[in-house]
Amino acid sequence: MKLERVLVVGAGQMGGGIAQVVAASGRRVLLHDAAPGAVEHGLETMRRSLAKLAEKGGADPDEVLVRVEPVDDLAAADLMIEAVVEDAAVKEDVFRRADELLPPEAILASNTSSIPITSLAAVTGRPERVVGMHFFNPVPVLRLVEVIRGLETSDETAAAIVELARDLGKEPAEARDFPGFVSNRILMPFINEAAYALMEGVAEPEAIDTIAKLGFAHPLGPLALADLIGLDTCVAIMEVLHRGLGQAKYAPCPLLRQYVQAGRLGRKSGRGFYDYSS
Ligand code: CAA
Repeated sequence: MKLERVLVVGAGQMGGGIAQVVAASGRRVLLHDAAPGAVEHGLETMRRSLAKLAEKGGADPDEVLVRVEPVDDLAAADLMIEAVVEDAAVKEDVFRRADELLPPEAILASNTSSIPITSLAAVTGRPERVVGMHFFNPVPVLRLVEVIRGLETSDETAAAIVELARDLGKEPAEARDFPGFVSNRILMPFINEAAYALMEGVAEPEAIDTIAKLGFAHPLGPLALADLIGLDTCVAIMEVLHRGLGQAKYAPCPLLRQYVQAGRLGRKSGRGFYDYSS
């Protein structure tokens, strides 16, 4: 299946990273974000990342960025990769509109970390062409793409996305559409348990993270990683797991909720488990 022209919706941390790796593979990218200034900000972040990669022999940033065209609205493409805010209603609206505006043979993919692919597919008239294509932050560096099949996703659609992921230099891993898929079903309870360990006074944040970094060879400890992802996002994903799987063990840790209530969302707000103000 030819996937040469790719519409990326959302130019934030994830959408910008996705646009970058797709453009770096030689494809044409149409980049849309409804928020004023978001595409420009995304392009600046891409330029900085591409400059780092160019120092290590990667492509000239200008040669990659010339393939990224900002667009004011959703536009015709072979594939849409949606990476807007993690809100089911907002994503459903994007999928409804994409179904109207993109050619009937186009594939509609979501970078969601937790919203059911099956429910996004259900608002379109092409559920067999709707699929999850879940990248990991920072997208230009991390090699995993989790490919999620909704209930109606066709073999042909899943195979096309697996092939595309490989062509982007990534390693695809397939999962079915159950809450949190595989990645967040494993990651979020790990983070949640680390928050419980802190809340119960088992150890200080630095000790918890040192244990994961040096004991399990993780690049970041769970609390520092939660700060990177955003504590509000962690709580939202735990709620998806809790609702969808119905077991008490998935309830968000009260300390995580309390930090979110206080506006301590992690790096993006300057403070989470750690202080980033300096
Ligand atoms: N673009 C290009 N290069 C980048 C980059 C970017 N955005 N970010 C980092 N790099 C490069 C750096 O330039 C550096 O290159 P050199 O080794 O050649 O100097 C290299 O990557 C390592 O970076 P740093 O030295 O700055 O720091 P580090 O060794 O700690 O690595 C990291 C940074 C790759 C982010 C590493 O900390 C890491 O892997 N962290 C874990 C991230 C993670 O778990 N992400 C998953 C989050 S979950 C998710 O995304 C999905 C979800 O559903 C919630």
